[in-house]
Amino acid sequence: MNISIRQVLQLNWLVLAFSLAMPYQAVYSETSLPYESTHSRLGVVTCASAKCHGAIEEKSTTRILQNEYVLWSREDPHSKAYKHLFTDQSKKIAKRLGISKPEQDDLCLDCHTHNVARAFQGPRFRLDSGVDCEVCHGPSEKWIETHTVEDRSYQDNVDEGLYPIVKPLARARLCYSCHIGKGKQFLDHQLYGAGHPRLRFELDNFSATQPAHFLIDKEYVERKGEVSNLKMWFAGQLISGEYFLNNLLDSSIRSQGLSVELSLLDCHSCHHSFEQENWRSVAHQPLKPGVLRFNDTSLFMTHLALQALGHSEAKSLVKGLQGLHAASGQGWPEVDKKARQLQSIVKQLTGEFDQLEFQSTHVKALIKGLLQAGKGPVVRDLLLAEQIAWGLEASLYFAQGIGMISDSQLGSLDKDLSIIFQLITEEKKYSAVSFRKAVKQMSIKLNKII
Ligand code: HEC
Ligand code: HEC
Ligand code: HEC
Ligand code: HEC
Repeated sequence: MNISIRQVLQLNWLVLAFSLAMPYQAVYSETSLPYESTHSRLGVVTCASAKCHGAIEEKSTTRILQNEYVLWSREDPHSKAYKHLFTDQSKKIAKRLGISKPEQDDLCLDCHTHNVARAFQGPRFRLDSGVDCEVCHGPSEKWIETHTVEDRSYQDNVDEGLYPIVKPLARARLCYSCHIGKGKQFLDHQLYGAGHPRLRFELDNFSATQPAHFLIDKEYVERKGEVSNLKMWFAGQLISGEYFLNNLLDSSIRSQGLSVELSLLDCHSCHHSFEQENWRSVAHQPLKPGVLRFNDTSLFMTHLALQALGHSEAKSLVKGLQGLHAASGQGWPEVDKKARQLQSIVKQLTGEFDQLEFQSTHVKALIKGLLQAGKGPVVRDLLLAEQIAWGLEASLYFAQGIGMISDSQLGSLDKDLSIIFQLITEEKKYSAVSFRKAVKQMSIKLNKII
């Protein structure tokens, strides 16, 4: 799915097979986010002039497309995120939670707009802009004047507070902060119960479908360095795992009254009908039938990536997951211990992330791992099936980029992918049996190709 959109976005990675090692860390620490910065926000109007980012058509003569604002305001749902707090759906959600005005409540504003304190709002800043340029690119106070100067580098701008969103881990930490949530910016099960749509996210796919207002070509790579789409995917899984563990260990989140906060669990371990017998014996989840289970999706996906990379931590991650699931029957102290062990593995991986690269043998192994999982017991639940579909998409696209599969082979596989994606679009209609069948179909074809 969406491969046609992606082809516009990215050139063949073989052509771009060099990389610039840049630090890109400046005013931001490894985990700080642009909307936490104390620089001043100048507001989206500052970016929107026709000579800057407000051109109607994209330009090919300039380094950047220049129609970023128009694309964002017309096609990017982020520009509607605040307006959507006035819809009947929002009013209903808010009413059920005892919130009278969602458009004024921090709970909603934190994710649906650029909700920063007055002190950091410039004169032309507007709270009703939704998720605007400065949410993702950082407050522009210090770089607005200089970021267009010809001989300045990307690093120079980052040194002034431009957020290094081109870096996979930095991007992942930002996107997932709203698309999963962390700390007080969190979607708990009460919000779901009140009718909020379930958050589902995958970094590589969503970066393309936002829609992307950037074009990765040779010149882009020269300025910003090369990052493959598969590393973007991997960063997403890793950071999603990091946030899951942080949220699980956060005492303000993890337990609500009698029970563990339900949104940390696998939704469909509860939400399925009695006719549908869900439980299966799964290697990394040593759980008896009828027992609650944590949503370990992203950590399981990280495990598949490590296995494909032949990484020594692949085994300890699975062991860690087994330990965490087993601990869920033993109380919080044990869960804490196991979650911290997993945290240290994730920390090690984020530390060495820049050095981990997918070569053709790794992608091949990854595709096989994803197909294997997609035909197996783990996809009894939609959450994992969804991530397997996105993982397949990211790896096939990458495989085409490095010349492992041809354009026409990708075109043919795209049909199988579309079938797989159709099976995960409607939550209520998800059937593991059909999903496994579709993956099997695809693997027969793929086995002949790779
Ligand atoms: C400040 C919070 C915030 C951040 C940061 C954020 N998003 Fe979003 N995103 C939202 C909200 C809220 C919506 C829903 C907007 C609406 O429809 O009202 C959304 C919607 C989307 C959608 C459309 C989803 C759909 O189902 O149609 C995509 C794609 C998306 N975001 C991608 C990204 C990517 C990629 C990043 C990081 C580069 C990102 N977002 C960062 C809050 C955020
Ligand atoms: C942790 C971040 C977060 C919080 C808190 C949050 N939202 Fe959202 N909301 C999102 C994201 C992300 C989406 C997009 C979901 C998608 O399509 O993938 C969204 C989507 C929505 C939608 C659907 C928009 C559409 O495109 O139709 C509504 C309505 C909504 N939110 C209302 C609310 C209300 C009301 C509150 C406060 C009570 C709230 N949200 C709190 C992140 C959040
Ligand atoms: C939800 C997050 C998000 C929002 C909102 C957003 N961007 Fe971006 N933008 C990105 C990502 C991701 C990239 C790709 C990484 C990069 O090139 O730095 C990007 C890249 C860019 C680039 C660089 C293109 C290049 O070739 O170097 C420009 C310019 C840009 N955005 C302008 C804007 C403007 C102007 C707005 C507001 C109208 C905006 N962005 C809103 C996420 C966002
Ligand atoms: C431990 C079991 C459990 C888990 C896990 C769980 N839920 Fe629920 N959910 C419930 C219960 C109980 C209700 C209340 C049902 C009622 O009032 O009849 C509920 C209600 C809901 C509702 C309102 C609709 C309804 O049936 O009342 C939504 C939507 C929802 N949950 C979504 C989710 C999502 C999304 C997740 C995963 C992020 C999730 N749930 C995880 C048990 C669970």
